[in-house]
Order: sequence, then C-alpha cells, then structure tokens
Amino acid sequence: MSLKFDFSNLFEPNISGGLTDEDVKSVEEKVTSAVRNFVENTPDFAKLDRSWIDSVKSLEDWIINFDTVVVLGIGGSGLGNLALHYSLRPLNWNEMTREERNGYARVFVVDNVDPDLMSSVLDRIDPKTTLFNVISKSGSTAEVMATYSIARGILEAYGLDPREHILITTDPEKGFLRKLVKEEGFRSLEVPPGVGGRFSVLTPVGLLSAMAEGIDIDELHEGAKDAFEKSMKENILENPAAMIALTHYLYLNKGKSISVMMAYSNRMIYLMDWYRQLWAESLGKRYNLKGEEVFTGQTPVKALGATDQHSQIQLYNEGPNDKVITFLRVENFDREIVIPETGRAELSYLARKNLSELLLAEQTGTEEALRENNRPNMRVTFDRLTPYNVGQFFAYYEAATAFMGYLLEINPFDQPGVELGKKITFALMGREGYTYEIKERSKKVIVE
Ligand code: PA5
Repeated sequence: MSLKFDFSNLFEPNISGGLTDEDVKSVEEKVTSAVRNFVENTPDFAKLDRSWIDSVKSLEDWIINFDTVVVLGIGGSGLGNLALHYSLRPLNWNEMTREERNGYARVFVVDNVDPDLMSSVLDRIDPKTTLFNVISKSGSTAEVMATYSIARGILEAYGLDPREHILITTDPEKGFLRKLVKEEGFRSLEVPPGVGGRFSVLTPVGLLSAMAEGIDIDELHEGAKDAFEKSMKENILENPAAMIALTHYLYLNKGKSISVMMAYSNRMIYLMDWYRQLWAESLGKRYNLKGEEVFTGQTPVKALGATDQHSQIQLYNEGPNDKVITFLRVENFDREIVIPETGRAELSYLARKNLSELLLAEQTGTEEALRENNRPNMRVTFDRLTPYNVGQFFAYYEAATAFMGYLLEINPFDQPGVELGKKITFALMGREGYTYEIKERSKKVIVE
C-alpha cells in the first residue's frame, strides 16, 4: 500500500496564519514547471536503472557466504545503508543468531572515524566471515580511506586475502578506489556517475547491504518507481513530492526556516537522518543559479515520538513559530505488546490496550495540540514498514528536494560548502598538494 500524505494542518482555516489558496496560486505555475522540468530532464537517480539491481544480484552467491557485512562509507555512502537497515530489519537484527536471521547477514555501518565506534564493531565481528563493503563515489574521501586501511590491515593480520573480503563500490572510471580495483583485482560495484551521493540509496550503494540482510530490493525499487511516476504528475494534488516542495517553499518564504521531521517509530530514526542530509546539503546554498548571494536553505531537525514529547514539544508548541513539522506515522507495527491489567484503577485506561495504540494516540495528540497552537504540521502515514513504502519515502523526498532546488533557483546537486573543511583536514594530515595554516586568533576567548 502507498504512503499517505495529509497536508491539512498546513492550511487555513485549520491553522491561523496557514497557507491560503492565494499562496498556492502564487507558486502553482512555478511548481508545475519544476515538475515538467523533472519529466523532461529526469535526473539519473529517478531512472532506477535495472542494472543497479542486476549488478548487486550477480554477487549474491558470493555474498551469501558472509555472516557479517560491514559498510565503510560516510554521508550519502553510509546513511542510506543505515536507513534501510534500521527501518526494514528488526532493531535487534545484529544480535540474532544466523538461524534466526534465516541465513542473512548482520549489517554494521561505520560512517565515522571515531575509534570507539570502529572498535565496537570490530570487537563484534569475525574477519573470516566478514565482508567489508567500501563505498565512496569519489573514491578518495579521507574517512573512508582510513576505515578501508584499517579493515585491510586486520584482514592481512588474520592471514586472509583482502580480495576475498573487500567489495569496492565507487565511480566506474575515476578515483583512487577504482584504481585499486583495476590494479589489485577487487570485486566492485559502480556508483552511477550521474547520481550524487545523497541521492544514491537506490543504486548499488544502498542495495548491496540491503540484499545481504534479506531486504527485498525489487520491492524497494517498485515502491520508488511508483513514487517517481506520481512525482511526474502536473496536477499537484496528485503529486505528494510537488506538494511537499510547494508547502515548504511557501513556509520558508514566510520565515519558517526549520523543517522538523518527527517519527513515531524508533526504526525510522535513520530515515530521518537520511532526510536531514538530503534537505541540508542539497538546499543550503550561498549562491543561486545566477551567481547571486542568497544564503538559502531550511534547517532539517529530527525528533522521535513519543520520547521527544518530553524534550522538544514544549518548544515546538510555545517557542518561536519558525518550524514546519512533518510527522511520520506507522499504522501497523511488526511486533505488538498488550499492556497487562495490573489491578490498579489508576492504570485502567492503559490495561489490555496495545502499546502501539498508545504511541499512535500520542502522535494524534501532539499533532492536534500543534494545530491548536497554529503550528504548521503535516503527516506521512506508512501502513507498515515495508521495502515498498520505504522505497516510496526515498523517492518522494528525492523528487521534493529537486523541486525545492528548482523553486529556490539553486543547484541542489552540488555541495561546495563542504570542500574547504575537507582541504584543511587534508593539509593538517600532511596530504601531498595541500597546505593550510590555521591563523593565530587576534582575539582569544578560552575558558577552562
Ligand atoms: O551527497 C554527497 O555527495 C556527499 O554527502 C557524499 O556522499 C559524501 O561526502 C561522501 O562522498 P564519497 O561517496 O565520495 O566518499
């Protein structure tokens, strides 16, 4: 079943100060032309090339031998894997026995160079039965080069052939990792050159680890395909991605500079992280397409219901009215727990109810309270967490991001703002060809 989007609480008269028909009319034409542009110049990420699945499946007989897959990638080369793992496998998947996992692999994602993180994963794996999937589109990202080197070092220390335990996913032609594939004979997968990192979850970048842990990657693509098709409809009321872009664009222009995504499901935590990267890195831009300074973007924030009702909701209801809130709601959970009768009258309102009923009531209650306080909010409903629905979620938000880029007249597919920090890091680490001197501060404010 498809995702359902409810935009009602973004509009007048449901909230005062909400969007009006005139607001919609003022941008409708531009949104329609964003959709037309998407149809005429369909970005590669929305083409869902069949070869992405086929190339991954061609490695299935090899992959099935491994008990564990460790993904080494960062940003768009790691977040999609995390999102798929958490949303489509039980939260305790990596603690299950192989039998309980029906023979499918555990999946860990090391998306940082934090030695505590890497050690905690290494402590839990047996290199003999582990595959390291090294993912980097550019093939040169320092963090991934470091974790690759560590993985290789461990394999060699165990007397194992790195070529039998490392799979490289990178650009088909360019970069150091591709050179390594050519010179040392590693097995490899391709990151399609026309698909940017944060848009690559439905390519071999996300598909390999998903297949290894038994996620139906065909179903994932089917859901995404349906969502991309709907994203091409000119009637915006039949096009959820266009509606997301239209409403967020209008609210951004009304000063709502924060986009909160609040999921009522722990399994969706990394779906929200994936969204945060997509929205932040794609839309946070200094220059527009004409080269004028615009300093645009909308800050994505994630929150978890019901937990963050006891942390964030006070601010969302009564603090600055500068947010658009998107609830993610799952109607049917894979597991259920009935709250037992305790014999206490004070707790009778909970007795014999499903735990999910309480969680869903909390979502409805929070949504309604925000509406009462005239805080714009919308809801995305998943009937269940399935590959089809998660595929739709990725596709709708990728299309919405492209539409937002069009509306803001910026390039949503580059990330010039991350380059300087990378170059300084290379210089600090002594990489050849990079120099940078951290300037002495003329004013120092240091407190110990
Ligand atoms: O979306 C992007 O392009 C970035 O976030 C990249 O995914 C990230 O910087 C990692 O790059 P690479 O895959 O080249 O290692």
